[in-house]
Amino acid sequence: MHSKHSRLDRFIAKSCQIPLKSVKPLLARGAITVNGVPVNDGQWRVCEFDRIECQGTMLQHRSPLYLMMHKPVGVVCATRDKQHTTVLDLIDHPAKDELHIVGRLDLNTSGLVLLTNDGRWSRRLTAPESKVPKRYQVRVKESLDDRYVQAFAEGMYFETEGCMTAPVELTLTSATTAELVLTEGKYHQIKRMFGRFRNRVLALHRSAVGPYELDATLAPGQYRVLGESGELGALSKEKKRINP
Ligand code: URA
Repeated sequence: MHSKHSRLDRFIAKSCQIPLKSVKPLLARGAITVNGVPVNDGQWRVCEFDRIECQGTMLQHRSPLYLMMHKPVGVVCATRDKQHTTVLDLIDHPAKDELHIVGRLDLNTSGLVLLTNDGRWSRRLTAPESKVPKRYQVRVKESLDDRYVQAFAEGMYFETEGCMTAPVELTLTSATTAELVLTEGKYHQIKRMFGRFRNRVLALHRSAVGPYELDATLAPGQYRVLGESGELGALSKEKKRINP
């Protein structure tokens, strides 16, 4: 079940492959439980993480899962790839097949990648209207100056998308390095913005997405499970070392 909420009777009919009208008697005699409690109302809304049983048989039992990974350069943000190791290949977890990636990074970009099976959480983080800030460190080939800071803050017209980029906060940290904060995620956005100055990005790293900071103790290829609410406060101790 991938939608936010669905009706209990429809969920039962679909899961048990029975007509909707056959669900009514089951509900009436208390044979359906949601999170251990009998529910008689077929219009009851259930979500993807409700535990649903029919006459004692588990139909759905899914726990929300949130992971933070330090993606290495050369690993692809995809669930399957013929050529490269994927971020999913680096995960050793019984529920890994349920996971999806929350905002991709390019093959040659390193840093913070979030993964989850909770569609609501990932939509909140990636919806354009959420404008969630994403922080990157970049190293470029040619020297940087204030013209870059101004051009990034003003926005650039992207012909393919037919729109201006949102203002980007660019802070120069040395002659050829900078930190920047994006509030959107257009295709190859950072490389294309430096490309306007014919300046090549040599290294790109993402250190934060909204409130989630890449944990400095995670080496490239390592990940860890976040607390159930998706907050960093309640991190589990689970931590793995993987050789990509
Ligand atoms: N911008 C890029 O060009 N690449 C990324 O991976 C992320 C942002």
